[in-house]
Amino acid sequence: MLTLPGLIDPHVHMREPGQTHKEDWRSGTAAALAGGFTCILAMPNTDPPVTDPASLESAEESARKRALCDYGLFLGAGEDNVETAAGLAPKTVGLKMYLDRTFGPLRLGDPGAIAAHMTNWPAQKPIVVHAEGKRIALAIQLAARLGRSVHIAHVSRKKEILLIKLSKEKGLAVTCEVTPHHLFLTKEDIPRIGAGRSEVRPKLATKADQQALWENLAVIDCFATDHAPHTIAEKDGENPPPGFPGLETALALLLGAVREGRLTMEDILKRMVDNPRRIFHLPEQVDTFIDVDFDAQWTIRGHYLQSRCEWTPFEGMPVRGKVVEVNLRGRIVYQAPDVLVQPGYGRDLFGPALPPEPIKPIPM
Ligand code: DOR
Ligand code: ZN
Repeated sequence: MLTLPGLIDPHVHMREPGQTHKEDWRSGTAAALAGGFTCILAMPNTDPPVTDPASLESAEESARKRALCDYGLFLGAGEDNVETAAGLAPKTVGLKMYLDRTFGPLRLGDPGAIAAHMTNWPAQKPIVVHAEGKRIALAIQLAARLGRSVHIAHVSRKKEILLIKLSKEKGLAVTCEVTPHHLFLTKEDIPRIGAGRSEVRPKLATKADQQALWENLAVIDCFATDHAPHTIAEKDGENPPPGFPGLETALALLLGAVREGRLTMEDILKRMVDNPRRIFHLPEQVDTFIDVDFDAQWTIRGHYLQSRCEWTPFEGMPVRGKVVEVNLRGRIVYQAPDVLVQPGYGRDLFGPALPPEPIKPIPM
């Protein structure tokens, strides 16, 4: 049995408000706990997207009522919310900018609007960018010119990781994350997964791209699941939306790489605890840890996942390593396969100040 700190996932899509048939704050944070995550950072491409005081308040309320683990909320950057966004910054973990098209309506095409957000958004609050290929270069260039940091989400291609490597070598304030699906799947897996179910942004890449990610592990600051649940019916339908669930499979896949000698436990903890905490300025979660049975063998099955979407691109894959218990702020919140706290136990790390924790009795 391994005892590890609670993991942090800096890139998760809860579907509430608006699309709770895919996921809600309870089902999504149950998936987080089952995967060993005690803190998740939620993306703003809900319905409506989180871009103004009313939509932020509605997302805060959903999370406050139903979250089982701790969380922070991202605000979405739009072409016309530059001033409003900056005013809401203290209530959020950071700003998310979509420079390329993906699921949902949020999109920043105009470089002028990107620059305006980068100028107005408080320097001490992170900006996360969804960008691919040349748009990554644009984001890094603008951030450098404006003298601020930028975090690149879900890097998937060789050219992209090499560009980020070069930027870091030049001393630019760039950080990045990579998903387990881009580390463990490629285009070659599409026939097995199915065309609709394989849709994800960024798309599954080539073996050479995948290899470049592994060869440049030192450039990767965080592992982030980009947990993006859609139902099986939607994925198998006419117009399959992009996205994979990932919270419940990430740790077992990464522990497999530890077994194979491709990663160390330190590599994992740096990218799933220390770096996310540092990059996103997250407070320490006291008395928070997970127990993992390193040897437990299981087969990934969508049907048994806590996530409402009930499918996974890793269906049928044998893995080892299972989260057996999660302690969050001094309470056992999960004992596989059961959630042991009520919805609402999770705290907004950027919300109103927390009431003090109850004083624990001193053991005799
Ligand atoms: O595949 C994706 N799905 N990539 C994204 O960037 C968004 C996500 C979603 O929200 O479904
Ligand atoms: Zn995403």
